[in-house]
Amino acid sequence: MDTMTRIAALAAECMKSLWPEAEGLPAAEELRGLLAVPPDPAMGDYAFPCFRLAKPLRMAPPKIAEALCAAWNHQDVASVQPVNGYMNFFLNRENFAAETMAALQAAGDRYGSSDLGAGKTVCLDYSSINIAKRFHIGHLSTTMIGHSLKRIFDFLGYTTVGINHLGDWGTQFGKMVCAYKKWGRKEDVEERGIDAMTELYVRFHKEAETDPSLEDEGRAWFKRIEDGDPEALEVFTWFKEVTLKDAARVYDQLGVSFDSYAGESFYNDKMDPVVEELRAKGLLVESQGAQVVDLSEDNMPPCLILKSDGATIYATRDLAAAIYRQNTYHFDKCLYVVAYQQDLHFRQVFRVLEKMGYPWAKDCVHVAFGMVSFEGEALSTRKGNMILLEDLLSQAVTKAREIIEEKSPNLENKDEVARQIGIGAVIYTDLSANRIKDIDFRWDRALNFDGESGPYVQYTHARCCSVLRKAGDLAAAVPDWSALMDDEAQSLLRLLSRFPDVIREAAEKYEPSMITRAVTDIAQAYNKYYYEHRILDGEPAGAAARIALTDAARQTIKTGLYLIGIEAPERM
Ligand code: ARG
Repeated sequence: MDTMTRIAALAAECMKSLWPEAEGLPAAEELRGLLAVPPDPAMGDYAFPCFRLAKPLRMAPPKIAEALCAAWNHQDVASVQPVNGYMNFFLNRENFAAETMAALQAAGDRYGSSDLGAGKTVCLDYSSINIAKRFHIGHLSTTMIGHSLKRIFDFLGYTTVGINHLGDWGTQFGKMVCAYKKWGRKEDVEERGIDAMTELYVRFHKEAETDPSLEDEGRAWFKRIEDGDPEALEVFTWFKEVTLKDAARVYDQLGVSFDSYAGESFYNDKMDPVVEELRAKGLLVESQGAQVVDLSEDNMPPCLILKSDGATIYATRDLAAAIYRQNTYHFDKCLYVVAYQQDLHFRQVFRVLEKMGYPWAKDCVHVAFGMVSFEGEALSTRKGNMILLEDLLSQAVTKAREIIEEKSPNLENKDEVARQIGIGAVIYTDLSANRIKDIDFRWDRALNFDGESGPYVQYTHARCCSVLRKAGDLAAAVPDWSALMDDEAQSLLRLLSRFPDVIREAAEKYEPSMITRAVTDIAQAYNKYYYEHRILDGEPAGAAARIALTDAARQTIKTGLYLIGIEAPERM
């Protein structure tokens, strides 16, 4: 429990004991929300505005504040003072430091973890790339938000299943195979991979303009893929391998992995039963030759299940996938980390599952996110200014390498550190704002070592490591926590004590950016502390306390970075 929560709980208790009969008093939770940090530290560390109680108690706020302060008997936690209708709290700084440090030291590198999720499973559908398409910057958010959420849920004790729901199904693949059979060359695809496939696809459409029979041929090839015809499958499977090999390089760089690559084609033989079930439950209706589920009651357009030619669609496969995941993993939550543009699709799918009578439909969540632009420019495949993720990452590493050369020419493993910083800078940017917000990627911001950036947080971590290397024997002394009563140490301690709550909140809201925020705040607070205090000087017991605080900051930053998928070099 962090300090504010604890103070709120004690204050709520205090209120209850004073006015046991009163109705409409705020519970601890609401009270916590009302606690404010006064702008002037002389007014205390926290303040509770008693105005909220005036109505239920029919008393003037200053009187309430006085009564509460008189009844308060938790001086070990904080002393209190009534001022103008506020109940002001002054933390018992020494106890607070001792308690927070004890919790940090007892947990070590597991600080912030919990067994909250023991016995529960979370499925995460993220990255979910499309076959025969290049991995571009538009896929960064789904990949990194999903990867981060997976680490967060793991850290909270959940069992997680990372799923790359490949886009590997659709008539376009029939056309691609058809084009390859007509005009393709093996060596060309081997050499140029996805670019060669794309060209084949483009050529198919060009030629189909003058030769409409090609469309039928393409469809026939797709039918052969669907039916498992070996000749068709051989080419298609190979295209898939080439795409995944390409993607694997990016995943490697980002440190991202998956437990399952079951994509759309995986559900090829699992859709008939779903369509049958929909029919049996009376949910399928005909509409212009197609089979749909009517959702007009929910103010949504109908969910298309079968096209007029009997072909299934994206939604049909998502229905089959959700049911399969529930039957296979018995998930408590199934998260879909997909751009907000697919909002309607997921609302429709989840609603159909509900109509089918699956109570777990409410556990399916669309974790939506905004768009990424680059140096102020919107990116689109159509405009042809899409940036490949692989290029972006390698540019980031090159730029980081240049900065290192300038700042730390004597660093030993420059290439390795440049990789960690470059990739970290990209990931940090992606996870720096509320996920629903659009992000503008700018080099000067991403790689600014002094601003709010990945390198800044990493640098602070390396600074902590450097202090600890210099500490030597001092670290072994018994720490005197009263050395941590100054404002800077207390601000840092407050952030550290809140960290476990931040992780839980980030999981609840599916919001990795809360952790990005927390590590940035901790880094800033540590740097402030570092500039104002001589950590290794003075009495050994005091130095030991400051060293322990440094170690706690180091560990918390490292954990936080890990949870958002960023590495933490020890020297920079
Ligand atoms: N491949 C899809 C796309 O790129 C995303 C798939 C998301 N996952 C899902 N289960 N629909 O748009």
